Amino acid sequence: MSRRRILAAIGVAALIGAVTPAGAADPAAAPASHPDASPVRTPGTESGFALFQSHCTACHGNPAVERAPLPEALRTMPPERIYAALGAGGLMAAQGDTLTEPERRRIAEFMSGRPLGSATVGAASAMANQCTRNPTVQNPAGRPQWNGWSTDGSNRRFQPAAMARLAPRDVPQLKLKWAFGFPSGVSSNAEPTIVAGRLYVGSDNGYFYALDANTGCVYWSFETGSIIRGTSVVGPVSGHPTVRYAVYVGDGHANVYALDTQNGALLWKVHVDDHFVARITAGPRLYDGKLLVPVSSSEEFNAGTAVYPCCTSRGSVVALDANTGRQLWKAWVIPETPQPYLQQANGVWLYRPAGGGIWNTPTVDARRHAVYFGTGDATTAPSPPTTDAVMAVDLDTGKTLWPTRPPPTMCAWAAAPARTKARPARRTTAPTWTSATRPSSSICRMAGACSSPGRRPPTCSRSILTPAAH
Ligand code: HEC
Repeated sequence: MSRRRILAAIGVAALIGAVTPAGAADPAAAPASHPDASPVRTPGTESGFALFQSHCTACHGNPAVERAPLPEALRTMPPERIYAALGAGGLMAAQGDTLTEPERRRIAEFMSGRPLGSATVGAASAMANQCTRNPTVQNPAGRPQWNGWSTDGSNRRFQPAAMARLAPRDVPQLKLKWAFGFPSGVSSNAEPTIVAGRLYVGSDNGYFYALDANTGCVYWSFETGSIIRGTSVVGPVSGHPTVRYAVYVGDGHANVYALDTQNGALLWKVHVDDHFVARITAGPRLYDGKLLVPVSSSEEFNAGTAVYPCCTSRGSVVALDANTGRQLWKAWVIPETPQPYLQQANGVWLYRPAGGGIWNTPTVDARRHAVYFGTGDATTAPSPPTTDAVMAVDLDTGKTLWPTRPPPTMCAWAAAPARTKARPARRTTAPTWTSATRPSSSICRMAGACSSPGRRPPTCSRSILTPAAH
């Protein structure tokens, strides 16, 4: 079995002697004819963003090149269309010529948010292990479940024994019961949600699935068309005749879906952020008829690329009416709209403030009527105080309740462009991440744990993060 197939599968363990794995999906049965059999394949559909920035943003997203479709428009295209455009005879063949074969695939897969070939093989209707019956979804109350990121609104990761029905002494006896391979999937980051005997899960193949938790057979699939990196959550829904429970999930194009748990029918779909690389990387929180959705982006992947007008995306939490999808409020991590502040020698403008993606499921504090969440790195220096921080907002309005501070011993990091003044025109190399991933001096001063602020990027004496190798 290839490494790719192992990566893109989920397994369910069960006690020895439990139900036999009838109807189980064999991960080895994933189609062998996937177009990308390249040994240099990079796991994940996200690695193409840097390539897109350096090879495509000179035209796509440049107002001076009117005919070039905007990046947002490219993101709605299937990967096959982008890939074909870059190949021999395609509209972008000249640009494709400057790329290797795996690079063309990376760009196509990142921009569309799903692997090549996934649309045809990922649907439940194409699977051998469809469930033969689809009994009415039961009321989950009182039944064993793990619904969403946590077992409760406080975001604890603990499940009482009465609910788990698993004692510590049982754990060494767990054996693989069934496994499910995501056809053409490359990476699987989302935690499954299990409610009333059904398991809901997505990966990066552009499909969301409802499986039988006991056997692994597939009840239905729903095509989001984009990667799913967060868990889903199930709750009662009203206003949709005959539908009793909905499952809510967000995707890599910042869309949120409410689906009928019975058959996967779409109840509503809402686009919660207009930035072209905005995405949802953590599960939503369902509380009292409100769906609290964390929004992040992939902009920090290559914030230091000289030809990219870094950076303009900002993290947020969006509250939606769980029955209709109507937006109730949107709480920005950084309240100001990014403005251009510096034009580089190559003509590309830099923007700030930006960043603060939210990569975690919000916590609800019912007593204080508050929503808490952690915020991610800034993508343009200086780091605003609300990035790499913890925020509290009002549950009804989304208004910020208290100012935030990084924990005193924590050194934050910023994926900001390393340059602070225009570079001489002869210099064409992009700034590297090595210096960009070092903590910004403003955060370091707040943290009080850093040395040598000044012209050279400061270093943290107690850094908790290792700069990514790029
Ligand atoms: C020199 C400018 C330029 C660059 C660089 C460029 N493009 Fe384009 N691209 C265009 C223009 C202009 C069009 C519209 C062509 C038309 O409609 O005739 C286009 C169209 C496209 C289309 C739409 C094809 C279709 O089927 O409708 C895709 C996909 C695309 N580009 C991808 C890319 C990718 C990926 C890159 C980077 C590897 C890239 N382009 C680089 C100018 C550019």
